[in-house]
Amino acid sequence: LFVNASEGAGRPIPETLFGIFFEEINHAGAGGLWAELVSNRGFEAGGQNTPSNIAPWSIIGNESSLILSTDRSSCFERNTVALRMDVLCDNQGAKVCPAGGVGIYNPGFWGMNIEKGKTYKVMFYVRSSTSMNLSLALAGSNGTPLLASANIRASASDVSSWTKMEFLLEARGTNHNSRLQLTTTQKGVIWFDQVSAMPLDTHMEHGFRNDLFQMLAEIKPRFLRFPGGSFVEGEWLTNAFRWKETVGPWEERPGHFNDAWKYWTDDGLGYFEFLQLAEDLGALPVWVFNGGFSHNDQVETLSVPPFVKETLDGIEFARGDPDSTWGSVRAAMGHPEPFDLRYVAVGNQDCWKKNYQGNYLKFYDSIKDAYPDMQIISNCDGSSGQLDHPADLYDFHVYTSASNMFSTAHKFDQVSRNGPKVFVSEYCVTGKDAGKGSLLAALAEAAFLLGLEKNSDVVSMASSAPLFMNANDGSFTSDTIVFSSSQLYGTPRYWMQSLFTESSGATLLDTTLKSTSTLLVTSAILWKDSTNEKNYIRIKAVNFGNSSIGLKISVGGFDTDTIQLSSSSKTVLTSGNLMDENSFQQPKKVSPKQIPLESAGKDMEIILAPYSFTSFDLLE
Ligand code: AHR
Repeated sequence: LFVNASEGAGRPIPETLFGIFFEEINHAGAGGLWAELVSNRGFEAGGQNTPSNIAPWSIIGNESSLILSTDRSSCFERNTVALRMDVLCDNQGAKVCPAGGVGIYNPGFWGMNIEKGKTYKVMFYVRSSTSMNLSLALAGSNGTPLLASANIRASASDVSSWTKMEFLLEARGTNHNSRLQLTTTQKGVIWFDQVSAMPLDTHMEHGFRNDLFQMLAEIKPRFLRFPGGSFVEGEWLTNAFRWKETVGPWEERPGHFNDAWKYWTDDGLGYFEFLQLAEDLGALPVWVFNGGFSHNDQVETLSVPPFVKETLDGIEFARGDPDSTWGSVRAAMGHPEPFDLRYVAVGNQDCWKKNYQGNYLKFYDSIKDAYPDMQIISNCDGSSGQLDHPADLYDFHVYTSASNMFSTAHKFDQVSRNGPKVFVSEYCVTGKDAGKGSLLAALAEAAFLLGLEKNSDVVSMASSAPLFMNANDGSFTSDTIVFSSSQLYGTPRYWMQSLFTESSGATLLDTTLKSTSTLLVTSAILWKDSTNEKNYIRIKAVNFGNSSIGLKISVGGFDTDTIQLSSSSKTVLTSGNLMDENSFQQPKKVSPKQIPLESAGKDMEIILAPYSFTSFDLLE
């Protein structure tokens, strides 16, 4: 392998090349990155009709001591359903309540993670027909042990109309499978609505689960594509993500059924929070909006103007002055400065639909008119021919086997350099090659990314899919980060991506590979380490074969005699078995390991292990 590192050689890689794609799938947000512990906090999971679906809320007590129902008596206009609790027992009367009282509990998303010494903010709205004697607790999954609790006594006049209650509870024990419970031993009728419990220590108090946020931050994503995927479309338009329903006070958000992935979301992680997440990560937001399409229905182009207006309002929400109509809503949420929204995508995987081109043009013209600098992404694949509509970028999605993904490394070698840029917004090895995230999948994807790096004159952005998987909801595999209520690990794909962290904004160096192996892919970049201000050459190689490969590397134009062996390094991602995966028990079984570099200098003889991804950093 010859690497040309002479002064001025190479070309810049876009600053935006590698980012992340967040979709509300596999409980990535609800029960995941969004740290809300209560599931179905507004009792709205069945929609606005009653009886609604209160699951996973359950009864404490039995039907002879307590009747649960839902009605539309909430104080919130957009989510009117409330829970009604008719308490039939009373410790002062003939029918004594069972020990511990009667009431309701919420197990969160497969158990709440409550940790000793940590503080949890619990809020709820309550109304009562009589004076009220209520216990609030965070407890183990069977109601014991009590990890934190508060007793609430209120006179009838204090709670005769809806009243907000707020508590800070410090946990005196740890239990990863806890629940929140509200109980009483007093006869009467109590209504509850909008019950929330959040740990206080979320990232910058912005509501993002710290450990999951940290994993994202460590791979330094340059953009965040959100909120889907199929989540943007829904199976039916009526269930599509609608940004206006996800902003403003949390209590007033109606939530919606994510019918693409078959679960309810309270939309605590809404449009504002996605923009905030991007900002906190130092990533550019890429908003995928609904272009009038779901999986089963679509809006005719003549009827699409309301969708266009909704999108323009959404852009104003993100970018408008704090005194504009929608910018003021953002400002009221605590962010007067505009968010740096420069990219929007018209739908997701909708190109093949009858009305796509017509609808697309309506969006395109209106957005460019109001925001000429906005980069607009089309769903139509421009790699196989010229697009018949204007676009700044086009989406390219690839879900395939490991061997196909490996071959796709060359996909963009021949595509037109004159049209819109490529956004590989979803790539993923699926099926039996992938398991829940195998070494094999990561190696094939690494080869694909090396191909993108080399074609980064035309490929501007790339992100894998899906990003997160709650281990209790593996609807779609393979994923990048797997978690439970208290644990997490990166799949081999995550660790593979960590070796591309320095690529965005680096310089791509010219390389010439002379090899008889068709199972070897390489690339080289020049990057600056901001911590020590030093320049490194990083050479990456995927050996996709079952035998080791001896590689002779020559670096030209770099003062190779002074390559510092001690400061140069070799990092290898491999494992004993091609189908090896990480797990909660062995989170770093398949992860990059630094090993000593055999030699450093003008000409180096390197051994690439079978089925491996190797990265060399050479310091002048
Ligand atoms: O990444 C999972 C799904 O695959 C996305 O929602 C969709 O865009 C694609 O079909």
